Amino acid sequence: MLGEAVGLSRFDARRADSLSALVGRQEEIDLLLRRWNQAKSGAGRVVLISGEPGIGKSRIVESVLTRLEDEQHSRLRYYCSPHHAHSALYPLIVQLERAADFEPGSSADARIDRLEALLAPATKNLTRDVALIAELLGVPSDGRYPALAISPQEKREMTLNALLNQLSAGTVQTPGLIVVEDAHWIDPTSLDLLDAIAARAANLPLLLLVTIRPEFQPSWIGQPHVTLLPLGRLGRSDSAGIIDDVAGGKPLPEPVVEQILSRADGIPLFVEELTRMLIEQELLREASDSEGLEGSRRSLAIPATLQASLAARLDLLGAVKDVASIGASIGREFSYELIAAISALPPVDLDAALERLTASGLVSRRGSPPQASYTFKHALVQDAAYVAMLRSRRQQLHADIANTLIESFPALAETQPEIVALHFDEAGRVREATDHWIKAGRLAHARWANREAANFFERGLRCLATLPQTRDTMEQAIDLRFDLKTSLFPLGQFARIVGYLREAEALARDLDDPGRLCLASVHMCQTLSLSGHPQDAVKFGRDAHRLAEQLGELSHRISASLFLGLACFSTLHYGESESHYLNVLELLDGDARLRQFSLAGFPAVTAHGFLARIYADQGKFARGIAHGEEGIRLAEAVDHPYSLGIVSWCFADLLASRGELNRAVVVLERGLAVAREWNLPFLVAGNSGSLGHAYALLGRTAEGLPLMEQALRVFEKMGHRFAQALFLSPLGEAYLLAGRQADALRAAGQALTLARENGQRSGEAAALRLLGEASSGGSSPDQAEGHFRAALALADELDLRPLAARCRHGLGKFYLKAGCPDQARDELVAAATMYREMEMRFWLVQAEAELSGLPDSLLHGSHNPV
Ligand SMILES: Nc1ncnc2c1ncn2[C@@H]1O[C@H](COP(=O)(O)OP(=O)(O)O)[C@@H](O)[C@H]1O
Ligand SMILES: [Mg+2]
Repeated sequence: MLGEAVGLSRFDARRADSLSALVGRQEEIDLLLRRWNQAKSGAGRVVLISGEPGIGKSRIVESVLTRLEDEQHSRLRYYCSPHHAHSALYPLIVQLERAADFEPGSSADARIDRLEALLAPATKNLTRDVALIAELLGVPSDGRYPALAISPQEKREMTLNALLNQLSAGTVQTPGLIVVEDAHWIDPTSLDLLDAIAARAANLPLLLLVTIRPEFQPSWIGQPHVTLLPLGRLGRSDSAGIIDDVAGGKPLPEPVVEQILSRADGIPLFVEELTRMLIEQELLREASDSEGLEGSRRSLAIPATLQASLAARLDLLGAVKDVASIGASIGREFSYELIAAISALPPVDLDAALERLTASGLVSRRGSPPQASYTFKHALVQDAAYVAMLRSRRQQLHADIANTLIESFPALAETQPEIVALHFDEAGRVREATDHWIKAGRLAHARWANREAANFFERGLRCLATLPQTRDTMEQAIDLRFDLKTSLFPLGQFARIVGYLREAEALARDLDDPGRLCLASVHMCQTLSLSGHPQDAVKFGRDAHRLAEQLGELSHRISASLFLGLACFSTLHYGESESHYLNVLELLDGDARLRQFSLAGFPAVTAHGFLARIYADQGKFARGIAHGEEGIRLAEAVDHPYSLGIVSWCFADLLASRGELNRAVVVLERGLAVAREWNLPFLVAGNSGSLGHAYALLGRTAEGLPLMEQALRVFEKMGHRFAQALFLSPLGEAYLLAGRQADALRAAGQALTLARENGQRSGEAAALRLLGEASSGGSSPDQAEGHFRAALALADELDLRPLAARCRHGLGKFYLKAGCPDQARDELVAAATMYREMEMRFWLVQAEAELSGLPDSLLHGSHNPV
């Protein structure tokens, strides 16, 4: 079990010496204890303890933990830190390392043993989870466990799941208490996990306490099991209580107390520190008086701010202050080993300085040297020690820290390059900082921590911009922008990507570098296709394709063809699109079909999927089905969730447009399950949206509509305008089937606008047909004919045969209603003939039923007997 033994928290470490007695806060603590009692019974609770720094958030948590010490429960604590606000899963990694309690210098094997013991009680798949967690902690597990052959994204999901299960497993035997300190500094991946555990808490015997500064607003505020507990400042008598406690047996003169109360204004940290400072100042003065020193008789100087009072306390430490400054440059927490490597002091003096610092209460110690680690009492104390230094001294220290990390702490430098980067950056060592930011970004991306990765790459870019422009730095500046594209793409940040790619393109032109220019165009083509600019995408795609052919590089040729195929598909250059996808399949002869080329999906699978869609729109169903089935087979063979998700969606759309709805449902339900299992938001939306449409066509509109509406919301949020336009017409059709005329008209109108803006002409035709359907039953039937005719003209022009058939079908029904049986018969017969040719039985049956309602005389007079 991951839980901690009592005696490991920051407060525990200093409880004995410097924790003042708690004053006030009775109501807050009562509330927390009530929440605990509710949580224990299975209705879990989340409490956000919110307030400015130094107000007493951590102190309240500490009191609650102390009160619960005699109760059976499991306990987990996480600390977030500003240095690590972008290091994926940092608080969890630290907690795991602490819980595993690795012996210093122990072998990888011994560490794996520890991890096994730690994780075993709460996992169903020990081998897998140990492998995942070992990798997270940078413990080599090769040889003992086979490497997991899965993508970074899959690994991220599995790791988060393993952690989440460990977190909730703690509550199986006894109720659980999880504390997350300073969540305003949480990294994005840990926040995902926190979101998940906060949601799960509602149904577990679990109390989740999260301390935050008020600017942090998690998404779960406002849910019924979540309480926001804002901490106000202390009242006078409570503040006076702290002063008394700190002063101990020696009460301060009334006017001094008065001054402290008015300056510190109810912030406990301020009260505490101001009091301590004044006492220490007084002690110094007494000492100097008794030695009869001249000139030391100063009046009591009372700092006006919390920062100034902390600075004053550090000043009183004299030479020890420098050790505090080194520590502060390292972080809120620093190890003895690291500070010893950096400080110029002889070991005896260093030890003495650290002892004094600890005795002052400004820093607490855990363990004993050389294994000791030190923590600043408060983040503001660290800040004060940090800003007390001159800039040049700070830079020197940061450079020393970075170099020491690389030389003496290689494991840490490898697993957290961002920390090395941060120190080089602060040291003004831009070259080294850039390299380490890039390293950190790539490592984060490899763990699918894309928000973290993008942050690191952007910091690298900022450093790079200050270096002289040479061929090297320019090449690096281009590649960094490609890295940024790779991390931002899964986040759907298309506008930002386009900005970076334009810069990359310009740089590649300046450098006259065809390879990088080709890649810039490939990325641009892909991004623009999906974000609703297919016309521009086609231009970039053609450039990319031409350059790739000239260069003859296989991976460039594959990706250029693939994305140009997509762009041409969206703009209805079907012939061109088809030829590019076929080209991909040709290039990927034999075993190459099983290669991924660092693309999201296996290119051969994607090509099969899109060929299925192209043939579906053209009504060449047999050919499309062959590609769809082959794509599914291949995705299964490579066992790749993203590929399976994308081809399921494409293939099922073909089946649905042919009217094979039950089969489409089977394919989509599987695609959706895979996409959900692997948390692939784009494919969850795609498969569930199409599934909703299939349900609606089968008459299950109540199930179908919410799926489609949700999918659209996701696409909208992602900026996937292509997919949005694709789904609006089917949504309108579903509204119509549910008898919601007005909603259908609205969806059709939106579909038309978006398709026209995007230049998606098939979307435009589909939207026009829907407008026809929606208005023929509504208040403006006279407009229906025009819409159907416009849709039909476009469908004929673009050779979209299934859509043309459905336009004629719609027209036929319209004429029936309008009392024009002759015209109705012609259109319905034409529709039925096309349906029959394309084997679209689902609609053929409907068209035939409508025809059979016509008078015999009309039918027999027809030139197209049914
Ligand atoms: N109610 C209180 N009674 C006594 N001391 C307190 C109280 N609240 C805070 N303190 C002290 O003030 C300091 C800052 O409190 P802390 O909980 O660390 O602040 P926060 O976590 O809100 O930044 C700590 O040293 C703490 O012991
Ligand atoms: Mg705190």
